[in-house]
Amino acid sequence: MTSNDSTPKPAAKDPWDLPDVSGLVVGVLGGTGDQGRGLAYRLARAGQKVIIGSRAVERAEAAAAELGLGIEGADNADCARRSDVVIIAVPWDGHAKTLESLRAELAGKLVVDCVNPLGFDKKGAYALKPEEGSAAEQAAALLPDSRVTAAFHHLSAVLLQDVSIEEIDTDVMVLGEARADTDIVQALAARIPGMRGVFAGRLRNAHQVESLVANLISVNRRYKAHAGLRVTDV
Ligand SMILES: NC(=O)c1ccc[n+]([C@@H]2O[C@H](COP(=O)([O-])OP(=O)(O)OC[C@H]3O[C@@H](n4cnc5c(N)ncnc54)[C@H](OP(=O)(O)O)[C@@H]3O)[C@@H](O)[C@H]2O)c1
Repeated sequence: MTSNDSTPKPAAKDPWDLPDVSGLVVGVLGGTGDQGRGLAYRLARAGQKVIIGSRAVERAEAAAAELGLGIEGADNADCARRSDVVIIAVPWDGHAKTLESLRAELAGKLVVDCVNPLGFDKKGAYALKPEEGSAAEQAAALLPDSRVTAAFHHLSAVLLQDVSIEEIDTDVMVLGEARADTDIVQALAARIPGMRGVFAGRLRNAHQVESLVANLISVNRRYKAHAGLRVTDV
């Protein structure tokens, strides 16, 4: 197809031209758990400055000392205050309360929510439907002064923490309202060898992404795997 419009169009932005995020400090709230430790380890191993947060500073310091790589430990409030990007890696049960209590410390920060609201019964894992639509939308509602994004939902904490694994072969779906923020999160994901961050929509579509973890858990149980995801043709 041809166009008769002779006005020169601005060059399309290259979606893979991502910002340099190597100087950003990344905090991980709930960083003493499997997912938080795994992300902290991988990002620090890639050269990022990382602070692990906990409800108890001693637990954060112990986890940080165990992981090494210059990772520091702090209580969740101090971790949020000192970080540019703050990953939320607490269980769904503690999500709202944690964020409400840190509203001031998280103001202006780029928040990355990786919380999957799931229930478990004898049939396995199933998706919960938060009142706000998703954990990420709950975060956005509770943190009006933060830049809320969502990512890292589909990673296996087992693979992240396995020091013998060099590359994590997976894509990371990144959601958010502002392209400048999702670009930063995509760039952070891309610092981890094997990983790629792919923009996957606005926060109103976070529920499906969070829920998909219930399917991945079924895959993992059936095939004794630590399944990840790849988005094709991008
Ligand atoms: N595990 C995975 O493979 C995986 C993958 C993708 C996403 N996720 C998501 O990441 C989050 C963390 O998963 P996880 O397996 O690491 O969980 P976890 O080990 O159960 O919890 C992480 C940390 O959160 C803190 N915590 C526990 N209960 C809390 C509460 N009620 N309020 C505030 N903080 C609390 C604890 O740290 P302190 O006691 O030191 O404060 C704990 O070490 C979950 O929302 C999960 O859906 C997990």
